[in-house]
Amino acid sequence: MNRNSIKLAPSILTADFGHMAEAVQAAEEGGADWLHLDVMDGQFVPNISFGPMVINSIRTYTSLPLDVHLMVDEPEHYLQAFADAGAQTITVHQEATRHLHRAIQQIQDLGCQAGVALNPATPNQLLEELLPSLDLVLVMSVNPGFGGQKFIEYSHNKLRRMRDWLDVVNPECQLEVDGGVGYSNIRQVADSGANVMVVGSAVYNETATVAENLADLRKALEG
Ligand code: DX5
Ligand code: ZN
Repeated sequence: MNRNSIKLAPSILTADFGHMAEAVQAAEEGGADWLHLDVMDGQFVPNISFGPMVINSIRTYTSLPLDVHLMVDEPEHYLQAFADAGAQTITVHQEATRHLHRAIQQIQDLGCQAGVALNPATPNQLLEELLPSLDLVLVMSVNPGFGGQKFIEYSHNKLRRMRDWLDVVNPECQLEVDGGVGYSNIRQVADSGANVMVVGSAVYNETATVAENLADLRKALEG
């Protein structure tokens, strides 16, 4: 496992929304690889965060690739708006649309990388037909809606099974993990097969700066 190739994708969900530009710039200056943007509609998840207009302005403060995670019902209605806002990757939830294949096609036709997210109770097997054509799979290691939750331990096994499967049918596909990843478990999560780590409260918190937190996470990865 080449742990230097692991991507860190800070989620701004737990950043200070009143100083969003600084939070985003601190992630870039601190060596983040992607910026993870948790979009919540208050329907698919019991929380509301932000939409394409906010992402459009975030775009002007960073050159980091924007990794947009749509925790949104019927996301196919909003794909054009998020592509126009500058998304590099658009990830939709398997549970959020009846027409998942069409949503993935639309994302790729818009020139974005297409990802599918699985909630903790959703089996990997539901992606069987789509797996060869995906650019990214996102395994939720918490129930979506809030930052700062505890990592669901069986996610290690789920990640391992998904990585082994991807190595056969789609080795280039990114495997991203989202929720409860931090200093104490990031190395094990990498060993379980994830190569893109969403890190929210492990990066944006009161105990250290964004740069210090990102450096600590890198150190933990190198073990
Ligand atoms: C849940 C969100 C969070 C966030 C990461 O819907 O997707 O998982 O990105 O938050 P932490 O890293 O604090 O669990
Ligand atoms: Zn997320």
